[in-house]
Order: sequence, then C-alpha cells, then structure tokens
Amino acid sequence: SKPKVLVARAIFPETIARLEAHFEVESNQTDAAWSKADFIARMQGKQGVFTTGTERIDGELLDACPELKICANMAVGYNNFDVDAMTAHGVLGTNAPDVLTETTADFGFALLMATARRIAESEHFLRAGQWTKWAYDMFSGSDIHGSTLGIIGMGRIGQGIAKRGAHGFGMKVIYHNRSRLDASQEAECKASYVSKEELLKTADHVVLVVPYSPASHHTIGAAEIALMKPTATLINIARGGIVDDAALAVALRERRIAAAGLDVFEGEPKVHPDLLTVSNVVLTPHIASATVPTRRAMADLATDNLIGFLTQGKALTPVNPAVLTAK
Ligand code: GLV
Ligand code: GLV
Repeated sequence: SKPKVLVARAIFPETIARLEAHFEVESNQTDAAWSKADFIARMQGKQGVFTTGTERIDGELLDACPELKICANMAVGYNNFDVDAMTAHGVLGTNAPDVLTETTADFGFALLMATARRIAESEHFLRAGQWTKWAYDMFSGSDIHGSTLGIIGMGRIGQGIAKRGAHGFGMKVIYHNRSRLDASQEAECKASYVSKEELLKTADHVVLVVPYSPASHHTIGAAEIALMKPTATLINIARGGIVDDAALAVALRERRIAAAGLDVFEGEPKVHPDLLTVSNVVLTPHIASATVPTRRAMADLATDNLIGFLTQGKALTPVNPAVLTAK
C-alpha cells in the first residue's frame, strides 16, 4: 500500500495531485488551523508531513507519532523544527532553500526602498485625502543609491541583496556573518566584512537576513539600535525574534532611527501593538517569498523531498542529513 502523507495547510491543487500519485494523502485544503492535539491525531499512521514553516515539530509530537519518517518544510527557515529531537527520533527534516533566494532578495530590496523613501506612509496620506499642496519637505526620505548598505547574515539571500545594492544602486556594501565569505564571493558582492558594532555604527540601511536560533534571538535590541545612525533604516526579512519589536517601536517613536521595514514579527501573525501606531514603519505579512512561480517552486521542492525520501530513501535538501546516513 502507498505511504500516508499529511498536508498541514492549504496548498496548490497541483501539489496535492502530485502527492496523490505516490501517497495516500490527507490534506487541509480548508486551511483551518489545527491545535497541536488535532495535528498529532491526524499524524497517526502517516509516514510523511508537508509543513509550511509554522507547524511546530518537537519531541512531544515525535513521541506521539512513531511512524513518522519525514517532515518537508515549504520554507527555507526551519525554526519550527526541533532538529535535535528529529535526529534522535530518526526523522528527516527538509527545507526549501535556493528556489526562493532571488525572489526574497527582490523583496528585501523593495522593502528597503519603500521604507527609505516613505512609500507606504505617503500613500496612506494621499488616500486619506490629506494631499492639498506641494511642500519642500513633504515625505523627504533617505537615499538608497550611493549609501552604505549593512547586511547581517550573508547567506544566499544576503548575497542576493548585496549584489542588487552594489551593482544596481552603487551602494557601498558591508556585512557581518558568523563566518566570512571567501574572497571570490566578497568580490562578486563587492562586500567588506566588518564587526557587528562597526556595521551598526556606519550603515545607512541595515538589512537582517540571519536564520533564527536561540543565539540570534534579539540580535537587534535597544543597545544595538542605540549604535545606529539617527538617519538609518532597519529592515527585517529574517524571522520574528531577531529584532526586539517592543524596543524597536520605542526607538521609532522617539526617532532614534529614521524608519524600519518589517516582514516578520515576534509572535506573528500577531504584531506588537506599538508597531501598529508608529508612522515610520512599513509592515508586511511575511510575504518575502510570495511570487506565484517561487511559491510553486517551493511547494515542488517540498513535494520532491517527500517523494524522493519515502519512495527511494533520498532527499534533495535535508537539514539533518545524519538521518540519511544512519539508515
Ligand atoms: C520564509 O520565511 C521561509 O523561511 O521560507
Ligand atoms: C539562508 O537561509 C539563506 O538562504 O540566505
């Protein structure tokens, strides 16, 4: 009989059809949120689960689902996985890197430009009927071209943003990362490695693209914001929790930095109420990878991982490859 797979959220009908060619599929096309108990109940007897990056896979769930072999995340980030617990249970995790890199870098740049040039704020003003005259200082922002771009987290997406800035907008690019890029990557991105402190002090625009982990929790809090230029902008397309949102709301209200652009939030889809009331922040609902072709490619990659692993023991993008070799 076919392996059984659970799809945790609504997804493309074509994805369900691909899965159904190989598996007995239970899906959640209504997209209603399942409680953890519901999720565990539906996982009974399933060998695979298609997750979207928000379903928590932890020791409690793994203990309760002994038949589970693979969790395929339709996201590059996988902080919803307790990877150590999965490895201990012999459960493979896969993510969806690479296919979203350029799309996400485009969005990081779009959010940076919307923030620095006050596009969202000025559009609200116009729609509210407040535009009655020209004014010399109306919605004056900060320049992108020729400014200094500081990138924290120089993975594939960070490098994509660096290239856009350096080659497209003549920006000076500095970066901080756990490890330095090699010389040829630095040359391709025209990026110089600096300490986090120097980056915060000298960048005109700071873009965060680090994966979330306990070590990266509140990479940017009140102390880090205090190092930034009062004219600087801060962009978070990484994960909620990388920025201390409460501290950021205070800093924005007090104009300690000029503006912020946020696609991800601590405790999302809830957003810190203080962020909703400051004008100098652009807020988007975690959509950096959301283009039709990229979301299709992400779903296809998660599907390829499920099919490859459950039918041939192979996976394209494992996050704990030790599980593959231990078999
Ligand atoms: C989105 O946030 C992702 O991790 O793909
Ligand atoms: C990080 O996960 C990246 O692809 O940048």
